[in-house]
Amino acid sequence: MDCIAGHQRLESHGARPRLDGGLGPRGPISNGPLHARPLVALLDGRDCSIEMPFLKDVATVAFCDAQSTSEIHEKVLNEAVGALMWHTITLHKEDLEKFKALRIIVRIGSGVDNIDVKAAGELGIAVCNVPGYGVEEVADTTMCLILNLYRRTYWLANMVKEGKKFTGPEQVREAAAGCARIRGDTLGIVGLGRIGSAVALRAKAFGFNVTFYDPYLPDGIEKSLGLTRVYTLQELLFQSDCVSLHCTLNEHNHHLINDSTIKQMRPGAFLVNTARGGLVDEAALASALKEGRIRAAALDVHESEPYNINQGPLKDAPNLLATPHAAFFSDAAITELREMAANEIRRAIVGRIPDSLRNCVNKEYFMPGGPYGDALNGASAAAAASAFLNPPLSLAAHSTTHPGAMAMPETDRDRVLSSVPTSLSTAVPPPQAPAPPPPQPTQPPHSVAAAAAAAAAAAAAQGQQLPLNPHLQPHSTQETSNHITSKAEPSEVH
Ligand SMILES: NC(=O)c1ccc[n+]([C@@H]2O[C@H](COP(=O)([O-])OP(=O)(O)OC[C@H]3O[C@@H](n4cnc5c(N)ncnc54)[C@H](O)[C@@H]3O)[C@@H](O)[C@H]2O)c1
Repeated sequence: MDCIAGHQRLESHGARPRLDGGLGPRGPISNGPLHARPLVALLDGRDCSIEMPFLKDVATVAFCDAQSTSEIHEKVLNEAVGALMWHTITLHKEDLEKFKALRIIVRIGSGVDNIDVKAAGELGIAVCNVPGYGVEEVADTTMCLILNLYRRTYWLANMVKEGKKFTGPEQVREAAAGCARIRGDTLGIVGLGRIGSAVALRAKAFGFNVTFYDPYLPDGIEKSLGLTRVYTLQELLFQSDCVSLHCTLNEHNHHLINDSTIKQMRPGAFLVNTARGGLVDEAALASALKEGRIRAAALDVHESEPYNINQGPLKDAPNLLATPHAAFFSDAAITELREMAANEIRRAIVGRIPDSLRNCVNKEYFMPGGPYGDALNGASAAAAASAFLNPPLSLAAHSTTHPGAMAMPETDRDRVLSSVPTSLSTAVPPPQAPAPPPPQPTQPPHSVAAAAAAAAAAAAAQGQQLPLNPHLQPHSTQETSNHITSKAEPSEVH
């Protein structure tokens, strides 16, 4: 499905973003609809109800519900300056090149592995993610999985469900074999970022000694959080009774847990992965579970997703608890996620790219001075941008909603609007606010609004269609106890 419906609606109301003229220096429009509004499109979804309240006064919002760029309407490919996307669509370089006006993509989520962020940067498209959402949910889920491995709640509940009777202590002992005491055990955290540190704080309350390995963090964090730090993965694996993965998946750590590193783990240790499936070699894990070298494992993320327990190397592995990459989920987290994504798009529209963005992941590749950026250097573009950024703001009069984008009932909208953070409320000038001075011609504007305005101005000047945007190891011990009896010497960071 594409967004043809939005196209029709926008044209029939004469309020679609105009890229074919009407630009140049002009003051605020005091009467009538805005001549140009940035077009923002949700690429792979339909529901914009949470995003709309954050964007409707500064942008036209459309949805595409596309699985690939071939399903995206030409209007969006030609005119959208902002894109929101979940994870059901992938944007390779050739996909990105189809967007002629795009300046910002916001992933509604934290992983950006479905976007060629380097190509995007080289094309002048900023890519942002929402890294902070769901931290508590993932940390809580991780603790839930760790507790299940130690207390075997999941397996015991399944036995009850299957009708097993526990008539005395002998049956309980038999059924609950493998249950272990937490207090005094060592939890080893690989990657002490947002989620890893949230897990560390929770785990301490359960009595774990928490150790972490994260070679990218400066010294001192272990002191502020009261944790033990080790400087090699080998040392962490040697010391830990339970290993929990919380690092990002990158080109250096694919199959971080493999046959060789599993041999560095304490015999009978637990493994938990709520980070990324690619961190664990599932074939090696399956062998280790079958041989009891790993006592039990809990995986929320998998090498191949959506996960099918009946396929792949883990299909007949014992003591495996698998969940469907759902650690992040709660109603509150999803709302938070979508609001944060919409706010990032908003910052791009009312601010500058990439300076105003909070979570731009491809700044290092970003080339604002590319051909598209050059088109923004002219005075008329700067003035057009100024006019664009200072329209007379009347939400009721000027908001342009794609008919397919779900309009919210007034009460819901008010509720969401009232939850807009103060910084956001103040990001848009009030209706009577005087226009700020126009940007200096020597200072190329990078805002989406400026990009749209400049692209339109260039197209109008040439009396032609908008040109294609050229955007722009081992310490394995034989002891069966899961408590530490010896400690490796600290070694260098690697
Ligand atoms: N299961 C879910 O639903 C879900 C939801 C959100 C995030 N995640 C995943 O959780 C993980 C952590 O997310 P976050 O937001 O805490 O990320 P983060 O960027 O805040 O932290 C990641 C940490 O890992 C460290 N790191 C990177 N490579 C490492 C390596 N080879 N060894 C040790 N440390 C390494 C980094 O220095 C960083 O401190 C990510 O993989 C993310 O994709 C999963």
